[in-house]
Amino acid sequence: MQFTVPFSKDLIYQIIEEFGTPVHILDERGIRETIHNFYGVFSWAEYIKNYYAAKANPNPHIFRITGDEGMGLDCSSLPELVKAEMAGITGENIMFTSNNTAYGEYTKANELGAIINLDDINMIDFLEREVGIPEEISFRYNPGPLQKGSPYFGGDPEDQKYGTMKDQLFDAYRLMAEKGVKRFGIHTMFHSNCLNPEIFVGIYEMMFSLVEEILEKTGVPITRVNFGGGMGIPYNLKDESLDLNSISKGLQRAYDEKIVKRGLDPIKLCFENGRMITGPHGYLVSRVIHTKEIYRDYIGLDACMVDNPRPAMYDAYHHITVLGKENDPHDHVYDVVGSLCENNDKFAKERELPRTKIDDIYIIHNDGAHTEAMGGNYNDKLRSPQVLVTMDGIPKLIKRRETMEDLLRRYTPLD
Ligand SMILES: Cc1ncc(COP(=O)(O)O)c(C=O)c1O
Repeated sequence: MQFTVPFSKDLIYQIIEEFGTPVHILDERGIRETIHNFYGVFSWAEYIKNYYAAKANPNPHIFRITGDEGMGLDCSSLPELVKAEMAGITGENIMFTSNNTAYGEYTKANELGAIINLDDINMIDFLEREVGIPEEISFRYNPGPLQKGSPYFGGDPEDQKYGTMKDQLFDAYRLMAEKGVKRFGIHTMFHSNCLNPEIFVGIYEMMFSLVEEILEKTGVPITRVNFGGGMGIPYNLKDESLDLNSISKGLQRAYDEKIVKRGLDPIKLCFENGRMITGPHGYLVSRVIHTKEIYRDYIGLDACMVDNPRPAMYDAYHHITVLGKENDPHDHVYDVVGSLCENNDKFAKERELPRTKIDDIYIIHNDGAHTEAMGGNYNDKLRSPQVLVTMDGIPKLIKRRETMEDLLRRYTPLD
């Protein structure tokens, strides 16, 4: 995989001049093109919808773009629902996939007409007491030991807190049918950042078989299957892009064999991908503020792990471009660090990079999903702004830099 930056050097310096560093830059054109490509690949399907995973980059300006391109929104919390509403996304265009759901969240989801995806059979009672029984309901399935061979958020399905076991699922559908639900869906989320098409196709086959089994055992017809998110993106030079065509062909084959031939169609086919939609189209732009030579050589950035905790949390690799030095020999080995009092506040460890000096601009790739969104305020660091480069190539501020006033606002006055 080759990593390039879609903006000119002049534009990047213009953004730095106006908004300072560190700054998260997002590429609207790239996001829209990825969505066109996604829907193009699955164009054989009568109904296909990706509910963009709000958690990946919960900026309502991003929801406007994904919504405008025909994507729904996968929300998992009350604030995400409120932001969906801000962006004008309501009704069936929201899938509410929460777990350990707090009181009040179903109320908002119901008010917006969202499709509610229950994580557990015990949530039926909770839902009924809070908002009553909706016309459509979905359940999240956790196959546990019944489905092996898939990296499920870094562990086996049976170790995960999410979803409902198979026998519980049958009871849940029977109960919901008795309570008068009219339309039924099923959901699973089996893997994260997966680049292997075969794993996806295996999940599609598993889910379609389950649709038939649910009908046989409970009489409930499933009309919506949501395969969750988890389509991966290349983070590393040695990674290949996910082969969406092969996924699409596998899905079509499974749909024909297990759904159409058995008279179970039509079924709405849904996903909840976030990372693959915006991930590659974000760039964290940061200035080198110090260098240090001790047991290793260090590059000190003005960004830190609050701007992207993935390397610290998962030892994740993010490619780095040094602006203007793209073609220089990468003959220096550096640890690239932030300024937190945490030794894992490192964007890269022992990375081969061009010789670097203070004031060089580092661009950290794949910053569009699960980076800024995961940051906090550790060490009282202020969070960086997000700038969208629009279709016209104009930089537009879509989230301002956090200020000291923002940070201090929540403290009660000192006596
Ligand atoms: C339930 C659910 N749906 C969708 C997603 C989005 O995953 P991704 O952004 O990797 O596609 C996640 C990620 O954690 C998730 O937990």
